[in-house]
Amino acid sequence: MPTSTTQLVLLGSGAREHALATKLRQDGATVHVLPGNAGIPGSVPSISATDFPAIQSFCQEHGIKLIVVGPEAPLAAGVADYFLETDIRVFGPRRQAATLESSKVWSKDFMRRHGIATARAWSYRSDQFAEAQAQAEELAGHVVIKYDGLAAGKGVYVCSSVAEATAALTELRELHEGWFSFLLEEKLTGPEVSLIGLTDGNRIRLLAPAQDHKQLLANDEGPNTGGMGAYCPVPFLDDNSLAAIRQDIIDPTLRGLQSEPFDFVGFLYFGVMLTPSGPKLLEYNVRLGDPEAEVILPALESSLLELIEATLEGNLAQTITKQRAGAFVGVVLASGGYPAAQFPTGFPIHGIGNQGQDTQVFVGGVKAGEQPGELLTNGGRVAVVVAHGPDLPTAIQLAYAETEKVYFQDKYVRPDIGQRPAPLLETSAY
Ligand code: AMP
Ligand code: GLY
Repeated sequence: MPTSTTQLVLLGSGAREHALATKLRQDGATVHVLPGNAGIPGSVPSISATDFPAIQSFCQEHGIKLIVVGPEAPLAAGVADYFLETDIRVFGPRRQAATLESSKVWSKDFMRRHGIATARAWSYRSDQFAEAQAQAEELAGHVVIKYDGLAAGKGVYVCSSVAEATAALTELRELHEGWFSFLLEEKLTGPEVSLIGLTDGNRIRLLAPAQDHKQLLANDEGPNTGGMGAYCPVPFLDDNSLAAIRQDIIDPTLRGLQSEPFDFVGFLYFGVMLTPSGPKLLEYNVRLGDPEAEVILPALESSLLELIEATLEGNLAQTITKQRAGAFVGVVLASGGYPAAQFPTGFPIHGIGNQGQDTQVFVGGVKAGEQPGELLTNGGRVAVVVAHGPDLPTAIQLAYAETEKVYFQDKYVRPDIGQRPAPLLETSAY
């Protein structure tokens, strides 16, 4: 392992970054997490993930030559561009490439330009609500409306009637001031999978396919959240479906990246829906998913540090990605009231550190209490309990048994992570 990169800076502060820091340490790296949080060892709370001059000084002080980026905000703010002229390498795309996630309209245009399978869509500016309304009516309200910008998971309205579409358009208009754009898509149906890989823009190494559970309540009911839990691998994603996703989505994406005037280096996330007429791409993210990372990284047997190094050096062809056998399930421990705008926090968290051999707890929305080592809740998604089992039912059982050991006031846990009924896929398309 190259000694120059065994010290690194990881940007971010959530449970995803806790999982990343844990994995990179297992791979032999010394990891400083900026800003991290009170429950992630090696956190440097005084430096924010978007304060690039402070990050640079920290790297210079510690002789650090590699920055790994967790969330999208530093990428969209240009962290990779900032460090371009320095000897510090950033694992994550430059600002223009990060637009694949930060602009839904630009990203849809990229998909169209490169023949990537996706939902039909129409883009509008904020003075074209009447046209959008007419299009929504033509599709009988079966539309998805997406605000064109980073909206922390809250800019997407999935509608099933004209009344719902009208309400969504009204809310969109009231929420955002000034000029903006939005996308109106045909609504598709089918199970969703998250496929995440490391790419240098030419090749990609996929990590284990995962499934997120975005809705707050059992049976995919209730409001959308940042994700209430995830599991991997996905049992119904067979070789045929994966081959179809490669052919219709991943390969044309790589060809597209090669032909565009920007480079892409980093994690690339494909949010895919397996529809009756084949797989369709719903979105790109230019980072690891959260909570997908919390199960995908423990499932990865290969060294992530070596994969990152190889990607940065253009040597992905020489790597392999080996996954651990069995299943991984991550259950989010949330604050009661989440995902509303406000809910009570500041409650002491008990029971972290009592985990068994096959379980881990990654912490996100936490802060330090007054007692040494004490953690208090400080956000919606407080922690993720991850369990490994020989099969999915065993991992589910173990994960839920472990969630009982971690306690804080108003704790909420969605009860059916990993238990979506197997979907009926129309085989002809796969
Ligand atoms: P996005 O941020 O674009 O991935 O959208 C968030 C969520 O909205 C997705 O995970 C889907 O559950 C849903 N969604 C997005 N686009 C569509 C679509 N065209 N049809 C049905 N559901 C969609
Ligand atoms: N889990 C979905 C995301 O990270 O965007």
